[in-house]
Amino acid sequence: MSLTAVEIHNLTVTYDRRPVLWDIDFSLPAGHLIGVVGPNGSGKTTLLKSIMQLIPSSSGYIRLFDQPLEEVRHRISYVPQRESVDWDFPVSVRQVVRMGRYRRGNLLRRLSAQDKALADHAIEQVGMTAFADRQISQLSGGQQQRVFIARSLAQEADLYFMDEPFAGVDAASEDAILKLLSSMKEAGKTVVIVHHDLQTARSFFDWMVLLNTRLIKAGVTKEVFTSQNLQEAYGGQLTILSQVSDLVQEKDFPIREKQYRDKP
Ligand SMILES: Nc1ncnc2c1ncn2[C@@H]1O[C@H](COP(=O)(O)OP(=O)(O)OP(=O)(O)O)[C@@H](O)[C@H]1O
Ligand SMILES: [Mg+2]
Repeated sequence: MSLTAVEIHNLTVTYDRRPVLWDIDFSLPAGHLIGVVGPNGSGKTTLLKSIMQLIPSSSGYIRLFDQPLEEVRHRISYVPQRESVDWDFPVSVRQVVRMGRYRRGNLLRRLSAQDKALADHAIEQVGMTAFADRQISQLSGGQQQRVFIARSLAQEADLYFMDEPFAGVDAASEDAILKLLSSMKEAGKTVVIVHHDLQTARSFFDWMVLLNTRLIKAGVTKEVFTSQNLQEAYGGQLTILSQVSDLVQEKDFPIREKQYRDKP
């Protein structure tokens, strides 16, 4: 598929005049699982927020499926980073997921039986059927994350942005989410995922955006996940780099990092 899902041109975002994203330029093809990777504070969340127009940008433009966000909003779904959500809000799992069925500007519409069935199916897909009537405040972190993913699934979008969906989930949930993401890809969906774990990033995603305020590289995982690019993104954080050195498969692997690998 050669359709472009996301096109970003000259994007600069500043907080209090400090640039957090600087002159970012890239395009992402539709139909892939795409990881957005970079160190803490590198602008990953800011990138998703500016794509969703939740914060203003200083310059540049963003197009989704070759259109501005307003034109395609019903095809786009966004799962925010878990810490940014008020989980004390008194609402059940089923109610949260059904919210995914309300179209923007149409909150008064009644949900059809089909909407409700779709919401229940989404709850089932993330393995939360047994908890459907539970208040979201009474769930574990990983369960809350799965509910948010279910709400996003219920939207039946074409393009999904998820901010750290694997943060704080156990191995079983991680497996379940990953399977779900693969089936979404098979159904032709585009899923853009902020992910901070380099160890797993390489196997999870077939495309990658490597970020550190500036764009280091966007492309197929094999081309992005090189020791040179990672060095550029993570700078002096050698522990991280030596941890991932085994994962980087390059013939011309720098000797310096081989030594790190040899040390226990
Ligand atoms: N509302 C805000 N006001 C001022 N500065 C902010 C604000 N939100 C984020 N920042 C700063 O912008 C930078 C980028 O933040 P962002 O949340 O995009 O990083 P991130 O890559 O998502 O980090 P993490 O891996 O920790 O989630 C950080 O230096 C952060 O402190
Ligand atoms: Mg973040």
